[in-house]
Amino acid sequence: MFFKSLELKNFRNYNNLNLSFNSHINIIVGKNGQGKTNILESLYYIAYLKSHRISDDNILINEAKKNFKIKSKIKRENLLDEVKIEQTLDNRKVFFNQTEIQKKGEYLELINVILFEPTNLEILKGSPNIRREFLNDAIFQINSNYYNVLNDFNRLLKMRNEFLKSNRNDQVYLETLDKYYVEKAIIIYQMRAKYINKINEFISDIYKNIMNIENLKIEYKSFYSKIENKNDIKEALIKEMKNNYNKEKYTGITIEGPQKDDFVFLLNSKNLKEYGSQGQQRGAVISLKFAEAEIIKKYKNVIPIFLLDDVFSELDGIRKNNLLKYIESEYQVILTTTDLSKISKKLITNAQIIKIENGNII
Ligand SMILES: Nc1ncnc2c1ncn2[C@@H]1O[C@H](COP(=O)(O)OP(=O)(O)OP(=O)(O)O)[C@@H](O)[C@H]1O
Ligand SMILES: [Mg+2]
Repeated sequence: MFFKSLELKNFRNYNNLNLSFNSHINIIVGKNGQGKTNILESLYYIAYLKSHRISDDNILINEAKKNFKIKSKIKRENLLDEVKIEQTLDNRKVFFNQTEIQKKGEYLELINVILFEPTNLEILKGSPNIRREFLNDAIFQINSNYYNVLNDFNRLLKMRNEFLKSNRNDQVYLETLDKYYVEKAIIIYQMRAKYINKINEFISDIYKNIMNIENLKIEYKSFYSKIENKNDIKEALIKEMKNNYNKEKYTGITIEGPQKDDFVFLLNSKNLKEYGSQGQQRGAVISLKFAEAEIIKKYKNVIPIFLLDDVFSELDGIRKNNLLKYIESEYQVILTTTDLSKISKKLITNAQIIKIENGNII
């Protein structure tokens, strides 16, 4: 799949932008602060209905304006889809081929985009919630059901924490809540475990191709992964929740569940967070993203789009070339740089170059 066109109105520093992309390599060039990342951000927004940098959508609205619009045509095999997003200060409307989207979960599966950017290193180095967000977003891209289950679960978790804080003593209510909580928690555990298995189908080979080192894998760290016999998971979680209850009543926070999940990167069984060099860590995160692409290809039969924001900085020459070989093969790539001379001549020859200055194409 590939983006054919993009129109922005009052998005970040763009009052009016009209762009068309080629189906292969597109390079956005401009000095710092001119609006390169803003373009990638709007494309990311089309796929994920959120920014990759901030959680308050109102910040995306051009200063002094009250709304933004994003419009894009996306080619998918021989179909040409149109997405239109209209964001006002308190409301958002999303249209897919003129029809307003009611179910966000179903929409999130439609446009498959993978973004690389320097802060992605946080997936490896940062706190567990960053890794959970990565997992969630990745699974949304291939399974609309996951969005609904996760939403249901989060609602139950919130209700449960409110109950714990309330000092109410209603055993029947708590048991009912826990029954549903455990049910949804287990589905989430299973879906995440399955997704991590899929990543491990690919990640070691990818890492070897880019970094020339074998045996990278990721390992799921959760209550679920600790239970030897997965048929026992329900009883085990119920038991755990009973054990935790007195402590929970005291803190008002549910202790066990997918909200505690994490995963680690292991290179030859050693935790890369503790042992890896910066380059090895960067390579691992890039491999993770490529594994995500392979999963979309294999399980959805779709070729996703790559957005690369300034990602070549920390890989050396050989690894940069290995990475480019991967990318050049079949994807639409939209990448940004401040300096064309940093990018290989071969890539530039096939590329559409888009020069940006202060929110305008020049
Ligand atoms: N809501 C907004 N309204 C107007 N301008 C904005 C808004 N949000 C951000 N900007 C402006 O957008 C510019 C930043 O754009 P962007 O992050 O795309 O830069 P960039 O070209 O990627 O730069 P760099 O090379 O440093 O990464 C800044 O000048 C900032 O002031
Ligand atoms: Mg930028």
